[in-house]
Amino acid sequence: MQIQLETQPYSSIQADALVTYVFDKENKFDGALGDIDRAMNGRLSSLATSGELTGKSLELVLVHFPEGLAAQRLLLVGAGKPDKFAVSDLRKIAGTAVRHLKSRGVKTFVFLTREGERGPAAAQAAVEGLIVADFESDKYRTDRKDRDIQCVSLAGFDTALGANLTAAIDHGRVVAESQNFARDLINEPSNRLTPRMLAARAEAMAKEAGLGIEVLDERKIAELKMGALIGVAQGSVEPPRVIVVRYTPENPRLGAPVLGLVGKAVTFDTGGISIKPANNMEKMKYDMGGGATMLGAMRALAALKPSVSVIAVIPATENMPGGRAQKPGDVQVAMSGKTIEVINTDAEGRLILADGIFYARKLGCTHLIDAATLTGAIEVALANVNVGAFGTPREYLDRFLESAKAVGEKMWPMPMDDEYEEMIKSNIADIRNTGSGKGGGAITGAWFLKEFAEDTPWIHLDIASTCWVDDGRPWLAKGPTGVAIRSIVDFALKM
Ligand code: BES
Ligand code: ZN
Ligand code: ZN
Repeated sequence: MQIQLETQPYSSIQADALVTYVFDKENKFDGALGDIDRAMNGRLSSLATSGELTGKSLELVLVHFPEGLAAQRLLLVGAGKPDKFAVSDLRKIAGTAVRHLKSRGVKTFVFLTREGERGPAAAQAAVEGLIVADFESDKYRTDRKDRDIQCVSLAGFDTALGANLTAAIDHGRVVAESQNFARDLINEPSNRLTPRMLAARAEAMAKEAGLGIEVLDERKIAELKMGALIGVAQGSVEPPRVIVVRYTPENPRLGAPVLGLVGKAVTFDTGGISIKPANNMEKMKYDMGGGATMLGAMRALAALKPSVSVIAVIPATENMPGGRAQKPGDVQVAMSGKTIEVINTDAEGRLILADGIFYARKLGCTHLIDAATLTGAIEVALANVNVGAFGTPREYLDRFLESAKAVGEKMWPMPMDDEYEEMIKSNIADIRNTGSGKGGGAITGAWFLKEFAEDTPWIHLDIASTCWVDDGRPWLAKGPTGVAIRSIVDFALKM
C-alpha cells in the first residue's frame, strides 16, 4: 500500500473515495465537513436529521458521486463521542475504511483528517490502522482475491510540520509492517513452521533489518543445560532451537540498561502426554505467538533505533507426545539449577520460558519483558479484550502500561501476591509447573516465570486470548492480531 502526504486541496484529489469521520451527535458541521455539506447542498445535514448519519462509533455511511468532490465516493466513519475520542482511535477509523472499501473494489482513497488531529501522532496512528487493516489470512487460498488498496493520500494534515509528519508516517509504516510480519508467522501451520523453519525466518528477517542473530541448536542447548526446554522438546522428532536476536545502538554506554524480550514459541502444542482434546487443537499452531511478537518488535526496533540495547531470546519447540516424551511427575532441572516437578505436560510454555528468561539474564539483560500464549485461564479472566499484564516491581509494569495506553492496546494489570507463590510449591522438587487447580491459573503461571526472573525488573504478557481473534473486527481480519508489538516498541523507544 502506497501512502502519501497530500498538499493539494482534498476536494480536487481524484480517487475512488474520500474518507473522513463524524462525531456522535455532530449535527452542525463546520470546518472541512461544513464545506463538504455546503457543496452537497446540505445533504450531510439532512442525513444527520433523518438519523442515517449519527456518528456513533464505526458507523459507516457511503455516498456515491458526491457533488463538489473529485472523488467518486464519500465514506463517513463514525468516531463516537468527542469526549471519549483519542488520537489512537484513528487506527480503527482508518482501518475500518480500508476493510469496507476494499470489499467494494476500491483501489485508491483520500483519508481526510479533522481539525483536532493534524499532527504527527495522528498521522502515525492513521498509517498504522491502514496497513494493519490491509492484512488478510488468505496466503494458502488459490482463489484469493488480492483486493489490496493500492494508494492512500493523507489530507488535512498540517504540512507546515514537514519532516515531523513524514517521520511519523515512516514510523507508522515500520510498526504496522512489523505487526503484519508477526501475523504472517503466527498464521503458518506447524508443518510449514517448525522450530528450525522459524529460526530460518528469523535469520532472514535479521539479515534484512541489520540485526545480529545467533541460533542455538540442540547440541548447544544441551551444553547450556536448558533442562526445562529439553524436557518439552524430547517428545518430538523436531529438534528445538533458541533464537537470539540483538539490536545494539550506535554508541552503547557501559552499564546502560539492556532490555530482554523473551517470547514463547511452541510451534505446535498438542499438550504432550497430558494431551489436549481434538476440538480446536488446530489452533495450537499459534502457540508461537509470543516468539513472533518479539521478532516483530525487533524488526521495528532495527529501523526505529532506540538508544537502549535490546536482546530477544526465543525458545522454540514442538510439544508432542512421542515415545521419549516427558511424563507427568517427571522432575527436570532448569538451566538456573532449580528443580521442577512436571505435573502437567501441557503447562509447557512456562518450562521453556524458565530457561529463556534465565538465559536472557545470563546474556546481560537488566530488564525483561516476556510474551506468551501461556494460559487458557487468562481468557476466563479478561476474555479477548485485554492482554493480562503481570510484573514486578509494580512501577516497572506501570510504565509499560503507559506505553500500551499511548498506542491504543488494551492491557490489564494482574495481581502478584505472595499467596499465589504458595500454590506452585512441590512436594519433591523446588516448584511444580501447575497451581493447586483452585483457580488463579494465569497468576500461578506468571509466578512460575518470576521464579526465574527473580529480582530483575520483569513484565509478563499473557496473550493467549488476544493474539488470535476468531471473528474479524471492522478494522482487523480474523486470525492473528499482532497484539503487544506496538506497546513493546513504544516502551523500548522511551526507555
Ligand atoms: N498453549 C496453552 C495455552 C493456550 C490456551 C493458548 C488456549 C491459547 C489458547 C498452554 O500451553 C496450556 O496448555 N496451558 C494450560 C496450563 C494448565 C495445564 C496449567 C491451560 O491453560 O490449560
Ligand atoms: Zn500447553
Ligand atoms: Zn502452550
